[in-house]
Amino acid sequence: MNTVLLTGGAGYIGSHTAVCLMRCGYGVIIADNLINSVREVIPRIEELGGRAVRFHEVDMCDERAVEELFSASPDIGSVIHFAGLKCVPESVREPLRYYQNNLGATVTLMQAMQRHGVKRLVFSSSATVYGDPETVPISETAPVGGCTNAYGRSKYISECIMQDACKADAELSVVLLRYFNPIGADESGRIGENPFGVPNNLLPYVAQVAVGRREKLFVNGNDYPTPDGTGVRDYIHVTDLARGHERALRYTEAHKGCEAINLGTGKGASVLDVVREFSNASGVDIPFEFAPRRPGDIAVCYADPRKAWELLGWKAEKDLHDMCLDTWRWQSANPNGYTD
Ligand SMILES: NC(=O)c1ccc[n+]([C@@H]2O[C@H](COP(=O)([O-])OP(=O)(O)OC[C@H]3O[C@@H](n4cnc5c(N)ncnc54)[C@H](O)[C@@H]3O)[C@@H](O)[C@H]2O)c1
Repeated sequence: MNTVLLTGGAGYIGSHTAVCLMRCGYGVIIADNLINSVREVIPRIEELGGRAVRFHEVDMCDERAVEELFSASPDIGSVIHFAGLKCVPESVREPLRYYQNNLGATVTLMQAMQRHGVKRLVFSSSATVYGDPETVPISETAPVGGCTNAYGRSKYISECIMQDACKADAELSVVLLRYFNPIGADESGRIGENPFGVPNNLLPYVAQVAVGRREKLFVNGNDYPTPDGTGVRDYIHVTDLARGHERALRYTEAHKGCEAINLGTGKGASVLDVVREFSNASGVDIPFEFAPRRPGDIAVCYADPRKAWELLGWKAEKDLHDMCLDTWRWQSANPNGYTD
């Protein structure tokens, strides 16, 4: 069996990808320090994936622990590197912690891969590497590195590290997946996004308003140059995203070198579009109030997704209604996340 190590695999995107890979016949090892996730997700991944997961509570910055993990798992054939901190405002307040964690984990992981002869890597990058884009849709040839915060820069520098490693080792195969805005949940409602504290992203916040955990939504900015004045993003269903990882893994099995690929739908939706669609899907009114723009937020961002189709044969299949319906199913069945 082909075995994949998922760093950060107990998190939101990692848990959905683990299920997708297990259903496709891959063996899955998850290494996560649970800094932004909970152990309770593991039995649910096993339930949905129909087989056992090998779970290791490991900090990917801890060289000795990572070495022990690789030594104990000689069957690792490829790695998907999700592990990282992802909160943009937090990264502005604590840049050193973000660089230490996100870059430290990347380097430690790649050194262990090198020592153990593991040559295939898929990386969770982000559309934030494009900064404030000059034009939309954004293709992979757009300028990168003009990030507006330490989180985005940690992704950009990780990409550079991986590109340099590929130049030095012709056997390496790396796919940098630049995600746009993942939302939604597995259609079973058993796993989903489970933020600690006040959600930083739109959909988890809307979902918590809908279940009564928060009073109302604050819409940051209604004076952007967009049709309704609110920010426009390319929302992508997390199970579509998970499939993209499976395709990227297959790509690394047949190609060498480093490729950056957008994972988005190619369509933009405004904050108010999302609020409206979520109300339709859930039957619950979402009270909201306009608030000032958040520093660093951009007006419009959506992908040119053609390269993913050309190289991976992948495109998004689910629409905004599916994303809202599945988020609602997860949130209403688990109003307090995995602690329910
Ligand atoms: N969700 C998004 O909107 C989005 C968009 C673009 C890119 N990404 C990237 O995708 C990846 C996964 O995102 P997610 O939404 O699933 O986030 P998440 O926080 O739910 O998952 C990340 C996981 O990594 C773990 N982790 C963090 N640092 C670690 C370390 N040093 N060692 C071991 N485990 C560690 C956390 O405990 C968590 O389980 C992240 O790298 C994130 O930056 C996410």
